[in-house]
Amino acid sequence: MIKIAVLGYGTVGSGAVKVLQTNRESIARRVGEELCVKYVLDLRDFPGDPVEEILVHDYKEILKDPEVRIVVETMGGVNPAYDFSKLALQAGKSVCTSNKELVAQHGVELMQIAKEKNVNYMFEASCGGGIPIIRAMNEALTADVIDEVSGILNGTTNYILTKMTLEGSEFGDALAEAQKNGYAERNPEADIEGYDACRKIAILSSVAYGSHVDFTDVYTEGITKIKAADIRYAAAMGKVIKLLAFSRKDGNAVSARVTPALIGPDDPLYAVNDVFNAVLVHGNMLGDAMFYGSGAGSLPTASAVVADVVACAKNPGRNVAVPGTGETLEIVPFEETESRFFVRVSGNPAERLDGIKALFGEVETVAADGTEDDFGFVTGLIEERVFAEKIAGLDGVLNRIRVM
Ligand code: HSE
Repeated sequence: MIKIAVLGYGTVGSGAVKVLQTNRESIARRVGEELCVKYVLDLRDFPGDPVEEILVHDYKEILKDPEVRIVVETMGGVNPAYDFSKLALQAGKSVCTSNKELVAQHGVELMQIAKEKNVNYMFEASCGGGIPIIRAMNEALTADVIDEVSGILNGTTNYILTKMTLEGSEFGDALAEAQKNGYAERNPEADIEGYDACRKIAILSSVAYGSHVDFTDVYTEGITKIKAADIRYAAAMGKVIKLLAFSRKDGNAVSARVTPALIGPDDPLYAVNDVFNAVLVHGNMLGDAMFYGSGAGSLPTASAVVADVVACAKNPGRNVAVPGTGETLEIVPFEETESRFFVRVSGNPAERLDGIKALFGEVETVAADGTEDDFGFVTGLIEERVFAEKIAGLDGVLNRIRVM
């Protein structure tokens, strides 16, 4: 019997315990041995919950127990999860995590320790919740060179933007509803400012390209400035607004960003709604493949963590990580990348279009129902730096959103 410890009995940790209990038999059949949760670590007590019997408050109890071969880290946050993970690996225990902050910040070091100790540091659940995207890239798409990864990687913001699109609501109201329904944290900053998606695209890019992408190099904009009016203009263009995480490797040049983007029905990500996530991978032989599913939530995320536990259990004493190049990739400065922009400005085209064309050349104008005091236009492809300079010289800019 393989003994496991779960660190953190929150949404994902309690889900992991449930998955291991509910699917005990089928998991045992797959591993060839039973898996058993010996400890759950949490600062809190859970009176009346069966977990009480295996609950500990002192991590040392887990660390010093040689029977514990796999540690599930579902604490979230960098500290103390970093110390606990490092100590577990150094003690020869594999670690499976859903913690994207920790993986994005210290994943390279933790994977290196795992390799030295012939154990594993696995993080399938850190990106895309239950979508098995990391294993797909590492174990299935092995005939390809992956040159692009993009996706909708944050369930909270996708829920908010879907609400705004379907109900015409403003951002603040949609956020309040997301919080009321348990889809957004009380402090939703990491989601709505795009930081969560930023860490996820950095992790996915690192896996896809086999070299480290540092999340602090990824340009990130959230969705807080999106107005109901922008959504109406998007609809008038037959498009929707999504928080799009994107990265592309072209030779040695990698560009990566998280921004709101207008996408049309020809884009497979167009129909990804509510809390769902999707990851679109482009391989040089395969072309496009999209992976779609529950991007958050207790059991979907726990399902991915436990799949990692199964992989660790099947490989005792063997590090199965795909070797990387050991390099950190340089990201093309964001100002040097190009985009098309939708710009919403006050006034009307008759009065303003000449001035706009003098700045941006030919543009497409956009009108939307119920908007008399403003209008929109779409630029051609333009370098970010040039766009920023030009837009600074234009009065009455209400918003600007990149167009895919
Ligand atoms: N807050 C995250 C989201 C949870 O909304 O996608 C899953 O990482």
